[in-house]
Amino acid sequence: KKGGYDHFMIKEIFEQPKAIKDTLMSRIDDSGKINLDNIDIKSEDIKNIEKIYIVACGTAYHAGLVGKALIEKYARIPVLTDIASEFRYNNPFIDEKTLMIVVSQSGETADTLAALRLAKEKKAKVLAVCNVVGSSISREADYVFYTWAGPEIAVASTKAYTTQVVSLALIALYMADMKGTIDEFEYKKVLEEVKVLPEKIEKILESQSNIKSAASYISKSSDIFYIGRGFDYYLAMEGSLKLKEVSYIHSEAMAAGELKHGTLALIEENTPVLALATQDFLYDKMISNIKEVKARGAYTIALAKEGNTEIKGVADFIIYIPSAIDELTAPLAVIPLQLLAYYVATERGCDVDKPRNLAKSVTVE
Ligand code: M6R
Repeated sequence: KKGGYDHFMIKEIFEQPKAIKDTLMSRIDDSGKINLDNIDIKSEDIKNIEKIYIVACGTAYHAGLVGKALIEKYARIPVLTDIASEFRYNNPFIDEKTLMIVVSQSGETADTLAALRLAKEKKAKVLAVCNVVGSSISREADYVFYTWAGPEIAVASTKAYTTQVVSLALIALYMADMKGTIDEFEYKKVLEEVKVLPEKIEKILESQSNIKSAASYISKSSDIFYIGRGFDYYLAMEGSLKLKEVSYIHSEAMAAGELKHGTLALIEENTPVLALATQDFLYDKMISNIKEVKARGAYTIALAKEGNTEIKGVADFIIYIPSAIDELTAPLAVIPLQLLAYYVATERGCDVDKPRNLAKSVTVE
């Protein structure tokens, strides 16, 4: 059942190139354009959208945050995001000109389903990004964009996240094209970058051995901090959640610029800090943040794009990912973070596929 792997989690991590290929396959036509005909969102409907809400839980919410940044960047539509269990009690601004996007692997998460129902009551149209055909969320949404990740068995979500991010990237580009907020050159360029993600992920998966030594360091720690800016902040949240849920190590994700507003007080000698530095235009700022925590004794593990040599003299340990545009580093950089969580958890002897206290599908509110 585990196809020669020790656990479902690692099997599913390695399935990501295929899961992304499958998700992309029927969505890009011969002319190199995104085709969402079978989802049946009309160009008129997209032009009428005044704002979007993206609502989800856990990892799906983290994918939603990346989606927000992509939609705002390319389609220039304001996007609000909320955690489903909060959304309902926040008196959200929803009307018939709001598009609600719910993101859910299982399609059965109770809070997400309740959020969907609330949005529909208030006359918004709902687009679900969902992995399970026939699930409650896919049945009740107006439009469904399926992630073709295949069954995800491990409680820790991996291939669902990357396929959700890729789906949201396609949705962002599609909306941008409909609204005329992207020129043809950029549209093609970004779409090409999306198409090569599976190959780049293969490469990361082939060169994962050095991650084990970082995992071995972290497995002996009681706390870890993930820091980043922009897309890397959203990624920090996902990396941190992954590690804590499978390894039981206390982990926090911080916007790197927020450190000195409180959390920096927790950095001591040898505290591991995972610094995500994949954003070119924020690179210098991240280098300063790495120096800031190092000066307080932190053991710094940096994640950067290949070719970034400056970071070598700054961080204690470096994980490289293949180069990519800033907007699409999340589905690449998350791979080493998933592997790290997996190796830390196995080193600590945790029940990786079924962490204590957690369920795969959270059907209670
Ligand atoms: O099935 P869903 O995508 O709606 O589930 C949402 C969360 O429960 C899920 O992503 C959870 O956070 C994972 N265990 C994280 O790895």
